[in-house]
Amino acid sequence: MSLLQVHGLSHGYATGGLLRRRGWLAVLDRIDLQLQAGESLGLLGPSGSGKSTLARLLLGLETPSQGEVVFAGAAVDQLRGERARQFQRNVQLVFQDAPSAFNPRRSIGWSIAEPLRHLSDLDAAARRERTVELLEQMGLRGEHAARLPHQLSGGQLQRANIARALALSPSLVILDEALSNLDRVLQLQLLQRLEALRRDSGTAFLLITHDLSLVRHFCQRVVVLDAGRIVEDRVVDADLAFEHPAGQALQAALLPERPVKRRQRL
Ligand SMILES: Nc1ncnc2c1ncn2[C@@H]1O[C@H](COP(=O)(O)OP(=O)(O)O)[C@@H](O)[C@H]1O
Ligand SMILES: [Mg+2]
Repeated sequence: MSLLQVHGLSHGYATGGLLRRRGWLAVLDRIDLQLQAGESLGLLGPSGSGKSTLARLLLGLETPSQGEVVFAGAAVDQLRGERARQFQRNVQLVFQDAPSAFNPRRSIGWSIAEPLRHLSDLDAAARRERTVELLEQMGLRGEHAARLPHQLSGGQLQRANIARALALSPSLVILDEALSNLDRVLQLQLLQRLEALRRDSGTAFLLITHDLSLVRHFCQRVVVLDAGRIVEDRVVDADLAFEHPAGQALQAALLPERPVKRRQRL
């Protein structure tokens, strides 16, 4: 059974208002998607293609106009009580904007331990221990726990942000452009750490990005979203090449000095 299944998901937003004629902006159009436990899937698409909207729907933060999201066999919009809490523990989202994810007056350690206070049975000592373990897993040190957010660099803060998402040992982590503001060296280091976690703990990842090179480094499979539709669904290997113009544009953006390499047909 897939960890996550998306069936015929469509979504849109009302436009206009009091003074303008009301319309409807279609954002996602009949999305079908599957993600296996322990799999790393890339969701690639240009800005405005609907990636973040899809992430919000996967988390149940918004209800789709049509279709459904099924996690571990249960429809996400039907979850109540303990099963809803379990879903909250199991699926975590990390955004690009780390500073806004932290309370500026609280220590980094306090923020990382926040999900542990709400959704785990760990006592204070065990939470401290887990916080240090998480910081180290992301290449930070225990002493960073005592610092305030403004006392960390942007890259350190984003690592702390990812550490917090991992606190409850989720089975799926959605990274929505979560590495986009970091330099290339740090991006690749973090992906290596997350890859180790995937191998050791079977955590699944959905890497949302417009950067094909990150997908190549990290993902086993990739889908390309273009204007709300999935136009490519491919295994990531050395021969990865897209056929749809949207996929080819992302590929060309990666190699501006070279022509788009076309897949050879036998
Ligand atoms: N809450 C909202 N209300 C109205 N329009 C929205 C809302 N959220 C997203 N959109 C629109 O949906 C489209 C897709 O946005 P988004 O999912 O953020 O794309 P991406 O993450 O791929 O850049 C955009 O045209 C955006 O303006
Ligand atoms: Mg987005």
